[in-house]
Amino acid sequence: MRVIQQSLLAWYDTNSRDLPWRITSDPYKILVSEIMLQQTRVETVIPYYHRFLESLPNIKSLANIDDQTLLKLWEGLGYYRRALNLKRTAQQIVNQLNCSFPSSAEEWEKLPGIGRYTAGALGSIVNGEQTALVDGNVKRVYARMFNIELPVNEKNGEDAVWDIANNLVPAGRPGDYNQALMELGATVCLSRNPSCSICPVISHCKAFKLGIQDKLPARKKKKSVPQRTAASAIIQREEKFLLLQRPTNGMLGGLWELPTVIIPHLDLKYQEIEAIFDSQLNLKIKIIKLEASARHAYTHFKIHNLAFSSQLIAQDSRERLRHPYKWIDKDQISGFPVHVVQQKLFAQLFDSQQKLSLQ
Ligand code: ADE
Repeated sequence: MRVIQQSLLAWYDTNSRDLPWRITSDPYKILVSEIMLQQTRVETVIPYYHRFLESLPNIKSLANIDDQTLLKLWEGLGYYRRALNLKRTAQQIVNQLNCSFPSSAEEWEKLPGIGRYTAGALGSIVNGEQTALVDGNVKRVYARMFNIELPVNEKNGEDAVWDIANNLVPAGRPGDYNQALMELGATVCLSRNPSCSICPVISHCKAFKLGIQDKLPARKKKKSVPQRTAASAIIQREEKFLLLQRPTNGMLGGLWELPTVIIPHLDLKYQEIEAIFDSQLNLKIKIIKLEASARHAYTHFKIHNLAFSSQLIAQDSRERLRHPYKWIDKDQISGFPVHVVQQKLFAQLFDSQQKLSLQ
């Protein structure tokens, strides 16, 4: 084994965080952890990981769970498609592979929601295969160590990092090595103010030698993310109000929300917003008043969501709604998976003198 690999593994042995998925060799638990860790920080994942495994302790329980319960377990973790793909993966493992887990990165990558990076993680950690992985942390570590000047968010730069990663992953302890790299990126080789003085591979770091660790990795500037505006209708009937389920094939698919439409900008008249509700959702309403507003930033856009108390004006219009819907009590909301910006709206609506239960 090369010195870089030895130094990194020795550092990992004494400095790695005690993460729950590191004390198990159960492929199911490691699979769940790696899917949750896609685009998501370790600290965020930990409570979700425990709760998920308490409810769904094995691959069969996941394969058989209904989507609503699954999404509820995932609520707040974001990128909900991951949960639905994870269930499909579980179903394929149970039904097509007879409950045996894939034995290589190549096999893992054939399953839904498992790309090159997660396949590398699973192949190396679960199967002990000598296979690399590259995530944001690994890009940063290698871009600095080998002074890669190409932008790592473009194909050339990413390929350069994969080449290095493929060359360096050792035959012995590949899973630990990959996790050590990610760990170094998450705890030492930070984007801003890296802690070079405690870095176990400082003597191999070209960027440090050149004093340019703060300049790497290079990134091509992406266009600024667009801002979207959404309007939601709070429609009450007796004590209940109307919730719609988003189409399962789109963004935030299967989650529940107040009837919501995207509007072109904030300066619309109520009548104009009402017309959009009618044309997009087949919902005829009269808007009364702005009650709440919340913002959220997704990777590809930001959203500003306004919520208006509204009246349903066509008695039968709800029968023609294009989406599954339910009239629910405020207390029942917690039983439905709801996405974050709408949770923020609910928090405001319920906190302000229990507005929704007045009337
Ligand atoms: N990110 C993705 N997989 C990880 C792992 N196994 N440990 C820490 N961070 C990770």
